[in-house]
Amino acid sequence: MMSADYSHIKVLPEQAKEIAKNLYNLEGEIKSLPGELDFNFRLKTKTESYILKIGRPDEDLEYLEFQQEILNYVSNSNLNAPKVFPDIHGKYISSIKDAEENTRYVRLLSWIDGRLWSSVNPIKGELLFSLGREAGKIAKALEGFKHSKVHRSFDWDIAQSEWTFKYLELFSKEQQEIVSYFQKSFESFQKDYKKLRKTVIHNDANDNNILVSDNLIDPTVTAIIDYGDAIYSQPINDLAVAIAYAIMGKPDLLAAALPIVSGYHKEFSLLEEELPFLYHLVAMRLIISVTKSALNKQKEPDNTYLLISEKPAWDVLKRWQELDANLVHFNFRGACGFSAHPDEIAFLNWAKTQDVSLNNLFPSLDFNQVFSLDMHVGSTWLGHETEYNDIELTTFKINRLQVEKPNTLFAGGYLETRPFYSTKAYQKEGNSGLEYRTMHLGVDFWVNKNTPIHAPFDGQVYSIYNNGNNKDYGPTLILEHKTDNGIPFYTLYGHLSESILNLVRKGQKINKGDLMAYVGNINENGSWSPHLHFQIMLDMLDYQQDFPGVAFPNNVSVWSSLCPNPNVLFKYDGMDSHQNKSNKELLDFRKKHLGKSLSLSYKQPLKMERGAGVYLIDVFGRRYLDTVNNVAHVGHEHPRVVKAGQEQMAVLNTNSRYLHDNINGFAKELLETFPQELSVVHFVNSGSEANELALRMTKAFTKAKDMIAVEIGYHGNTNACIDISSYKFDGKGGQGAPEHTHIVPLPDMFRGLYQGENTAENYAKHIDEQIENIHEKDRNLAGFICESIISCGGQVELPENYLKLAYQAVRKAGGLCIADEVQTGCGRVGHTFWGFQLHDVIPDIVTIGKPIGNGHPLAAVVCTQEVANAFANGMEYFNTFGGNPVSCAIGKEVLQVIKDEKLQENALKVGNYLKKELISLQKKFPIIGDVRGQGLFLGFELVDKNKNPLAEKASYLANRMKDYGILMSTDGKDNNALKIKPPMVFSMDNADELLTRLKQIFQEDFMKF
Ligand SMILES: Cc1ncc(COP(=O)(O)O)c(C=O)c1O
Repeated sequence: MMSADYSHIKVLPEQAKEIAKNLYNLEGEIKSLPGELDFNFRLKTKTESYILKIGRPDEDLEYLEFQQEILNYVSNSNLNAPKVFPDIHGKYISSIKDAEENTRYVRLLSWIDGRLWSSVNPIKGELLFSLGREAGKIAKALEGFKHSKVHRSFDWDIAQSEWTFKYLELFSKEQQEIVSYFQKSFESFQKDYKKLRKTVIHNDANDNNILVSDNLIDPTVTAIIDYGDAIYSQPINDLAVAIAYAIMGKPDLLAAALPIVSGYHKEFSLLEEELPFLYHLVAMRLIISVTKSALNKQKEPDNTYLLISEKPAWDVLKRWQELDANLVHFNFRGACGFSAHPDEIAFLNWAKTQDVSLNNLFPSLDFNQVFSLDMHVGSTWLGHETEYNDIELTTFKINRLQVEKPNTLFAGGYLETRPFYSTKAYQKEGNSGLEYRTMHLGVDFWVNKNTPIHAPFDGQVYSIYNNGNNKDYGPTLILEHKTDNGIPFYTLYGHLSESILNLVRKGQKINKGDLMAYVGNINENGSWSPHLHFQIMLDMLDYQQDFPGVAFPNNVSVWSSLCPNPNVLFKYDGMDSHQNKSNKELLDFRKKHLGKSLSLSYKQPLKMERGAGVYLIDVFGRRYLDTVNNVAHVGHEHPRVVKAGQEQMAVLNTNSRYLHDNINGFAKELLETFPQELSVVHFVNSGSEANELALRMTKAFTKAKDMIAVEIGYHGNTNACIDISSYKFDGKGGQGAPEHTHIVPLPDMFRGLYQGENTAENYAKHIDEQIENIHEKDRNLAGFICESIISCGGQVELPENYLKLAYQAVRKAGGLCIADEVQTGCGRVGHTFWGFQLHDVIPDIVTIGKPIGNGHPLAAVVCTQEVANAFANGMEYFNTFGGNPVSCAIGKEVLQVIKDEKLQENALKVGNYLKKELISLQKKFPIIGDVRGQGLFLGFELVDKNKNPLAEKASYLANRMKDYGILMSTDGKDNNALKIKPPMVFSMDNADELLTRLKQIFQEDFMKF
């Protein structure tokens, strides 16, 4: 019965087409659009676009006139709002009779271009901000609008949402709990809420009314349409509507809401007294929505539009309720530029007048100065991860410091971003990937276990509790106080001794100077070096015996307002922690004083401070999964490699003119990885130096100068290396191949000169051709240099047999074959230890670089006895640093770690999995044109249907992956290839993380073609 009603009044596109022709004399394409009340159509004539709105039978004419007036009113502002057009009789509101003789009102509005918010992906902070601004602009433009209809009774007006109370039974038990929680609080604040200012508000910034610009990288909101819900109400309700819809589907609802609040406030200043309600009003708008859906579902089961926002609305309601209302309020205040906690300024002013000595806290300690221990992410005092995670060691280091600096209290750490909060409890999925809680909110006092702690001020015990999880506070005392002017505040004492649990009790009065606790030991304090964590809170939020001691850095302004710096009371020089230099400061210096042709990764450069395995950790403690760095071969700051270097450096570092076990030891281990023909090693300091030496050797052996190299090949930064690097001399600032360099085409099987059958032969013919060229000039070939998988060319795998044919041709002409393994070596390609072994060839010279020192400047040239003999012509080869005992200790350890941790096997296993999964991703996202590589030396190209390279999309992908905490790099002839060459400890989980984020970004608007 009910469904028949809807189908009777429904207007079909053919009918709409006729109406447009009859009433407006307009013809064109027609498409039906979603709408709750009107039946809306887009009409596209040859020159213009319109929106045709056909009302329901019972529509109120006066209400339609009101809508027209409001559109006219805002047409005087600079808003992008729809215009109203008259019909052929000059009427702005026309009427027709439908098949059942009902009057149906018809209107024609201008079409506003743009993408619907609901179709936009991704929705980033800037877009949310721009939504807030547009909504705020409308609120400003509507100020002063008057019409009797704005005072109507209206279900969608949050101020009138009490009507929803009687429909609670429509929902499940769980849903009822959520709904009644918000309804009760809505009821409870009516007195103050009703006193808030009122104005005419748009009231309907839902995701089908928001239009977004066509810019797919940095989109902005261009308009918010449909003024039909405008009402005279509290403006904070208008903002609540915008928030309610725009945060749907976001992992972090609050973080998504904040830019909307900031944007709105920028255009339409919000008042402090309005903000406490906002959290509840967002929920009430969603409650109106879900109640409407439930009611309408009963009335019109086949109207699917009504159901569109029901599911996400429930999702938001459920998660919104889990947030702390006060914390949300403080965040909203912060987003408007007010101090996040309303008492912050008054508290700070009071604190300035106080004279609280730290001797009050620790009367048993004898100190006359305070010294801050540097524990920020990049702190060298903390040392390696394995060191700071060794609590005994850290305790020992602190004890040593106490001996070295007597009469000193070691204290600090307020707002310090620290690397050691690494358990899952310190992470969350944010709106751009994982986020890490790293910023310390209290001050730590590094004093011995059992140090007595006395009350620094009068107070009362708020809670006493053992927060006993690993890396938690252990026994914790929280006191409640009041300033002289009546502001409540709390102090937290964490990592205490268990004896506290019997020493004081909840509610007990504490007088300044009273003994209240002792510093705990490692076994009872949450597993930390003994210390007191002291924190001030202006609000306990919903916490009873605990309070976060560490915050997310992107939310620090709110948390630091809630938890002021304890040193505002103590006022000790030396207690404030390490201050990070701003990126701007670093950039400005760099621009002026560092080499001008140095480049930086990413549009917004990163400042990395620490490495750990497959991760690089930035200055804020955010972990980036590094899929780029084949230098940190066995993992960033691998503890064994670090230790090998540190230990040898402490004993001896000199040059290779002295005998040393490390030199021989490393050489032996390295040569064992090679076929026996390659049995002599020369140690150098960089890949460039290795290739430079290889070139000298080649020239010495052949007495010739002419080299053959591959297009887009890169072999190093020295003069001779640049001369054989087409990547450089054929690129920006280059001047083409020098006289003695002969370039053969990149043997690319996907988009290169030859594809399909006989590719290897076809590409190898160019080597013969170049040899002929050299001979024609009456010169001889010196050699041929080639990577085993061409890296800068975009991870291009060589066709099967190519290297064999190439080597045959080169050797026939008397030349030497150099395998540049600077990128591909040391087990990375999985099947074999060296890349050339994939091709069943033995080079005359192999150059090794990046991975062998795991970040330490170490490289090598390995060659045959014949080549080495020819090079040893009497002129000494001296290299100041090459082969020093420290470098050799490191190189040897790297080789051993590769073996011990089976990293070559890992490269094969994880690499195969990743390649297979990338190939299946390719089926879903055809923009991935080619997936290639071996082991953990992989790459994929982005192309359109005709294999045209898509460099901008590759760069977008790399930058978006960075936003999600994954580092990738682009390269290749056309800069459209993504390279994957992570530290070899890259695990299956890491591969899955990479794949998950790739899938996510491939779905974004800019990645479509
Ligand atoms: C293939 C290849 N060879 C040589 C080099 C030069 O090595 P380095 O930068 O250590 O001098 C590089 C550096 O990227 C390289 O990729």
